[in-house]
Amino acid sequence: MPATPAPAGYSRLQIVLHWLVFALIAQQYIFRDAMSAAWGRVTEGLEVGFDPLVLAHVAGGALVMIFAIWRLTLRARRGVPPTIEAGRVQGLLAKLTHVGLYALMILMPFSGAVAWFGGAEAAAQGHNVLKILLLALVALHVVGALYHQFILRDGTLARMRRAQG
Ligand code: HEM
Ligand code: HEM
Repeated sequence: MPATPAPAGYSRLQIVLHWLVFALIAQQYIFRDAMSAAWGRVTEGLEVGFDPLVLAHVAGGALVMIFAIWRLTLRARRGVPPTIEAGRVQGLLAKLTHVGLYALMILMPFSGAVAWFGGAEAAAQGHNVLKILLLALVALHVVGALYHQFILRDGTLARMRRAQG
């Protein structure tokens, strides 16, 4: 619960972090082949040479976790705008999606790091299951955002574009 009354909108920092994380997660999927290939070499006991895309996966993933924790502290300290009411079921679905996204923004880098730095095959398998879950939740989240934008026309998308309060 925020200590002060809920702000009218997201802050500039909250918005910047939201879109930075979006870009970082997108690049994790777009350049995933490099990481898969490197992991294949690790499991075969082969030498893994330097690959900037592997570095980007590890560093990008770490940043996602740092930014997610930062956003959670901003939520707790500054707060977020009240949810735009669009029915109880939809409100609950949006809340659950956000909780799931935050959890995965932490669990994805965590499982990846345990695999990569600890050489744990089980963690890599977990990482591979979670990547599908994350993709599904992002898809649901985007469908929700577009539904608000084009069907309900309630200005939800604008809240993630312009800072307020
Ligand atoms: C939000 C953060 C992350 C996302 C969204 C993400 C996403 C992905 C995706 C999509 C793959 C490709 C799997 C495939 O289809 O072949 C992958 C593989 C992998 N990632 Fe990540 N990753 C993240 C963070 C990390 C971090 C921080 C590390 C290591 C420190 C890491 C280590 C790995 C490893 C070792 C693989 C290979 C697993 C395999 O192919 O079985 N990931 N990741
Ligand atoms: C990797 C992709 C994404 C992740 C992980 C993500 C995650 C999140 C999270 C956790 C929130 C809740 C913020 C909070 O209240 O603390 C949020 C809000 C929001 N996101 Fe995303 N997001 C992603 C991509 C997108 C995309 C592509 C769009 C637009 C098409 C979008 C539009 C929004 C909007 C409009 C809100 C504000 C909702 C509201 O005011 O209630 N997001 N996002």
